[in-house]
Amino acid sequence: MNDIPKIKLEGVTKSFGDNHVLKGVDLEINDRESMVLIGASASGKTLLLKCIVGLVKPDSGSIQIDGVETTDLSPKDRETLMHRMGMLFQQSALFDSQLNWENVAFQLLQDHELSREEAKELAVEKLISVGLTAHAADLLPAEISGGMQKRVGFARSIANSPEIVLLDEPTAGLDPIMTNVINDLILDNVRQLGATVLSITSDTGGARKIGDRIAMLYDGKIIWCGTRDEVDDSGNGFVDQFIHHRGAGPMQLAERAF
Ligand SMILES: Nc1ncnc2c1ncn2[C@@H]1O[C@H](COP(=O)(O)OP(=O)(O)OP(=O)(O)O)[C@@H](O)[C@H]1O
Ligand SMILES: [Mg+2]
Repeated sequence: MNDIPKIKLEGVTKSFGDNHVLKGVDLEINDRESMVLIGASASGKTLLLKCIVGLVKPDSGSIQIDGVETTDLSPKDRETLMHRMGMLFQQSALFDSQLNWENVAFQLLQDHELSREEAKELAVEKLISVGLTAHAADLLPAEISGGMQKRVGFARSIANSPEIVLLDEPTAGLDPIMTNVINDLILDNVRQLGATVLSITSDTGGARKIGDRIAMLYDGKIIWCGTRDEVDDSGNGFVDQFIHHRGAGPMQLAERAF
């Protein structure tokens, strides 16, 4: 294992006017590690993922990948880096006008390294691995359910075996069986393909299953980070309230609901 963290965040801040969302996020994710990010709604989890993938530029702080600063990359270097990452967006964000398999094969088709037939074959294979049929591969996103769209989005995020996979609520809206299938696939990608994965999840059972470590974002900072074995007995009231689904605790409803 490499000593340099795969992803290293230091003092990352981002505000929108008076809304200071990220107030100095520090987090290290090791090579081939599965990290789970938890936190209340509107705490800035999605925003943090967007900063890592480069869709949002932090106001200050450092985001290093393999020891290289990425907050000031040229557009060309940013594109090269994005090729090494796969991302599943919270709302799936599929291209409406492209068939499901074309969505999955999007990067492969752009790169022109595979023929269209080869790209389709690979895309259909990925879609079958997430429980979809070859028939669904030839439909448009609008013709399948929200949970199916989520699985297409997940298949897209892993289609070109990226080094880094960023997953925003990969199992939200899925039934318990499909949740397990997706969680197993996340683990497969880490264990077999050697990817480094950062997942946001509100499913605390899933967090324990897929996370080597779990980090909690609260009030713009990572307030706790520990192994899955430590999470049940974290000694942190915020983590405790979240993990044990308690209505009462240090987090008030107003700040949870925003
Ligand atoms: N582009 C933007 N412009 C203005 N405000 C934004 C923008 N993106 C995020 N925010 C604000 O940042 C805060 C965090 O949003 P974010 O989407 O990261 O929350 P989250 O933790 O992912 O929540 P959820 O669990 O509900 O998905 C919110 O208050 C949101 O309104
Ligand atoms: Mg979000």
